[in-house]
Amino acid sequence: MNKKIAVILGDGIGPEVTTQAVRVLEAIAEQHHHHFEYEFGLMGADAIDKTGSPLPEETIEICKRSNAILFGAIGHPKYDNDPNAKVRPEQGLLQLRKSLGLFANIRPINTYPSLQHLSPLKSQQLEGVDFIIFRELTGGIYFGEKEINAEQTLASDKCVYSREEIERITHLAFQYARIRKKKVTLVDKANVLETSRLWRKVVQDIALQYADVQTEYMFVDNAAMQIIINPKQFDVVLTENMFGDIISDEASVLSGSLGLLPSASVGGNTALFEPIHGSYPQAAGKDIANPVGSILSSAMMLDYFGMHAEAESVREAVNWTLQNGFVTKDIDPVNFYFTSTIGELVCDYIANKIPGVVNKANIELRKSTII
Ligand code: IPM
Ligand code: MN
Repeated sequence: MNKKIAVILGDGIGPEVTTQAVRVLEAIAEQHHHHFEYEFGLMGADAIDKTGSPLPEETIEICKRSNAILFGAIGHPKYDNDPNAKVRPEQGLLQLRKSLGLFANIRPINTYPSLQHLSPLKSQQLEGVDFIIFRELTGGIYFGEKEINAEQTLASDKCVYSREEIERITHLAFQYARIRKKKVTLVDKANVLETSRLWRKVVQDIALQYADVQTEYMFVDNAAMQIIINPKQFDVVLTENMFGDIISDEASVLSGSLGLLPSASVGGNTALFEPIHGSYPQAAGKDIANPVGSILSSAMMLDYFGMHAEAESVREAVNWTLQNGFVTKDIDPVNFYFTSTIGELVCDYIANKIPGVVNKANIELRKSTII
């Protein structure tokens, strides 16, 4: 199969982790006789430095003519610490999501037995955790009218949702639940917010069309607690934009590291795949960031292309690295491997180049000695 992939390296560790994901896609292409063509676009702080805009028109064009987009990370401390900045890197990603109509952000959360000791939670809470967050991505407080008065003493962000915006992602979540454990949990704040009450109404209506799926409603404050004390109860978690942003970072703690988690944003003619982590500027350029979130995002892209066996082989390769202790510094601060070594091992595994008995001594040579 031939596919065109737009690649946006972005800021901080984005370029390093995305480079490994592209390498893995190339290993898959070779093994399964596909042809992937890449076109690179700028976005974020990198794009502001080079063009003055966080999302140059050319990047939107590149994305529109691609079958899918692989994106790294966005953000730079010089903007985080300057609340007066008029142009911000994050605007690039928000505009891209909006202009491509990517209204559903899908974030799977699972745990790895070999990493359970890393989670602050007890392993009995973690076994069998397997849920997926459907986060609405183009509405809510992120996109409502924003105001600040001239004296800079009063500011507001409006939270707006239409029935139609809620309906389209709700259908996706229910359809997905049907091929999983048949349960949808709507996370909202319907005891306080009007938008949340609309979410509840719409979800209640739509749930009638999916009688085989169990529907549950949970306030976001309680959900934040339930994710920690009993994460096994969840199957498909459906929520609005900002609640989804917050609870997905929280849920990453279950896996062991934010660096492990992938995501897919769908809804328009093309889809965007990105790890859920940020730009982690302190680690940029050191070859120590975890590429697994990005590599697993490329596996989600393969699934989106209908290449399910290929996606599975990426996941199997990643599992193999994790099980054998080939992990980055966020996972093991003492015995850790470089970002590029993990990418190389995943590729070698896909290409069947890993011998039955791994000669760890050879790989040890590529282990980092910086502690
Ligand atoms: C995410 C990020 C973004 C968001 C930022 C970078 C705009 O945190 O994808 O989760 O809040 O959506
Ligand atoms: Mn986030």
